[in-house]
Formats: sequence, structure tokens, C-alpha cells
Amino acid sequence: MKDIDWKNLGFSYIKTDYRYIAHWKDGKWSEGKLTQDNHLVLHEGAPALHYGQQCFEGLKAYRCKDGSINLFRPDQNAKRMQRSCDRLLMPHVPVEMFVDACKQVVKANEEWVAPYGTGATLYLRPLLIGVGENIGVHPAKEYIFTVFCCPVGAYFKGGLKPTNFIVSEYDRAAPQGTGAAKVGGNYAASLLPGHHAHERNFSDCIYLDPATHTKIEEVGSANFFGITKDNEFVTPFSPSILPSITKYSLLYLAEKRLGLKAIEGDVYINQLDRFTEAGACGTAAVISPIGGIQNGDDFHVFYSETEVGPVTKALYNELTGIQFGDIEAPEGWIVKVE
Ligand SMILES: Cc1ncc(COP(=O)(O)O)c(C=O)c1O
Repeated sequence: MKDIDWKNLGFSYIKTDYRYIAHWKDGKWSEGKLTQDNHLVLHEGAPALHYGQQCFEGLKAYRCKDGSINLFRPDQNAKRMQRSCDRLLMPHVPVEMFVDACKQVVKANEEWVAPYGTGATLYLRPLLIGVGENIGVHPAKEYIFTVFCCPVGAYFKGGLKPTNFIVSEYDRAAPQGTGAAKVGGNYAASLLPGHHAHERNFSDCIYLDPATHTKIEEVGSANFFGITKDNEFVTPFSPSILPSITKYSLLYLAEKRLGLKAIEGDVYINQLDRFTEAGACGTAAVISPIGGIQNGDDFHVFYSETEVGPVTKALYNELTGIQFGDIEAPEGWIVKVE
């Protein structure tokens, strides 16, 4: 195991030993291979550079108590990447190839997977980019698929301690745009609003629906959920948010394991009073409790600005218990790296 201060890791790039790379040309994928080189050499005309023809994924590898390593629902990331590819006219990476690449990268970088109990994980970043000679606005003829990884800790600095968020006046995506695809352009659009939020000491911003600006969409890097007084787990439904794998996992766990009513629906920004607790959820964010939300001059506190609420904590325990192999997972959710 690498000599790292695992408990104090944040979320930033650390070079690990191996990454996977495969090339798509003439209608087919090359055999993927592992490499130690962490640089890509691209043609200056690459459509990924000019027109944002690229998509990516994010998932984690978890060290279990017995030393084995889990991936959490990697097939779902593979399928979501295929949907992103459809939106940007890129070739699919087959699900088996995607999952195999993730396994190879984790296995080759096994020493970078944090010990059980530290809370740290190995974050995997699959990336697909349009490359090759091009200048007009049309899809690339060649592609690179790569998967690299970095050991990470908490994404928002509080971890399970609540942090505050601010409603942005900007949109990260258009109503019929690319919000549901995990493509770089959405994140480029979120950099300025995110910067404004950080300048004011908020963890990140919350986006409202781009058509009416009345409903919560999501956080720049995670989905939103709220818990009502009537024990409902509510999370926004919108065609312009990222279909979060964590969110869908929590909808299932809330209902089947915690006995909550799980609802995907509208979350009006002027009706935050209905929630006793709120949080941001995602692979990187895991479950990050939201202390309060600033909306214009109003600051709305949910459960507490300093303590995580009991339902959020229970959801966190259930989700992370499954990911780290301590709690039995629903069928097919865990893939062992062997
Ligand atoms: C914009 C956005 N929303 C939501 C999520 C959460 O999605 P997931 O749970 O699949 O990681 C992410 C992170 O991937 C994200 O970048």
C-alpha cells in the first residue's frame, strides 16, 4: 500500500502508476492496453478540443474489510456513457470493455486503493474524446478511450458535516440541451457560477430549471435530495440534469431498506419548508448534507448547519455500507476486482 495520509485526502489529481487506453479507428476499437504515460498526444484539429466532442464518467473502487476491492454499479456508468455518446455522435464503448478497463486499472493500481476504514477510495475517470484531423463542425473520425484513477477523500470539505449552497442565476444546461449527458461543455458552463459560489464561501451552487427558474435542478457536481416531514425521499425529475447513479441507488434504498416513500418529482425553490433535511448526492459527493441554501436574500436552513440529520445519516450508512462490502448489496450492484 502507498504511503499516503489517507484520512486527509481531498479531491485532486494524484498520478498513479497505470492507465488504460484504446483507440477507435475505421469503425472498430483497438485492443486496450495499460500504459504508464499520463499524457495524451492529440492532433491540433481534434474535435474534443474545438467543439467539445467528449464525454466522461466517474466511479470509485472501495477496499473492503477482507482486503478485496469493490466497484459500485460500473455497468450503469458504462450505459450512461453510451447515452452521452448517442447525444454527441460518438461510438459506443461496449459495456464489457468499459467494465474490463476499470477492473484492469484498479488491479494495476491496487496499492493506491486506500485501506478499509479510512473513508478514502480510488476514483476512476473513464474519458472518451474525439480526435484526429478536423476543422469543420462534424464528428471526429477517430476516438480515444482512456481510464485513469486517483486516490480521493471528501469532495466537499465538510464530508458528513453540513455545508451551505447558493442558488445560481446562471444555467448549466438548456431545456433540450446536453444536461443529461456527462459531457465537458456542461462543466465548462458551471465554472463561473461555481467560482462565484466559492468566492462567497459556499460549497457550490444549485441550479434551477432553465425553462422557468422555479424548481431545483441539481448541484454543479451532484444531484439534490430532500427528506420531508412525512418521511418522503424527494429528488428532482428533469430532462436536463445528470441521471445520477447514486440518486437512483438512493431512491431504491430509501424505499426498500429504510421504508421511506421515494419520489422523483418537482422541487420548487419557494417550497423548501417541506424538507426537514436535504443533501447532495453523487459518486464524488457521496452524501453531503446541505446545511442551508442561499436564494437571493433568503437563507433557508434545513436540519442544522452543523449536524447531519438522522435520515441523511441512515442513507449514508446504508449506501457506504454496501459500497465497502459491509451490508448486503442488491443483486448486481457490486462487481469484485479480481
Ligand atoms: C452534474 C452532476 N450531477 C450529478 C452527479 C452524480 O452522479 P453519480 O451519482 O452518477 O456520480 C454528478 C457526478 O457524477 C455530476 O457531475
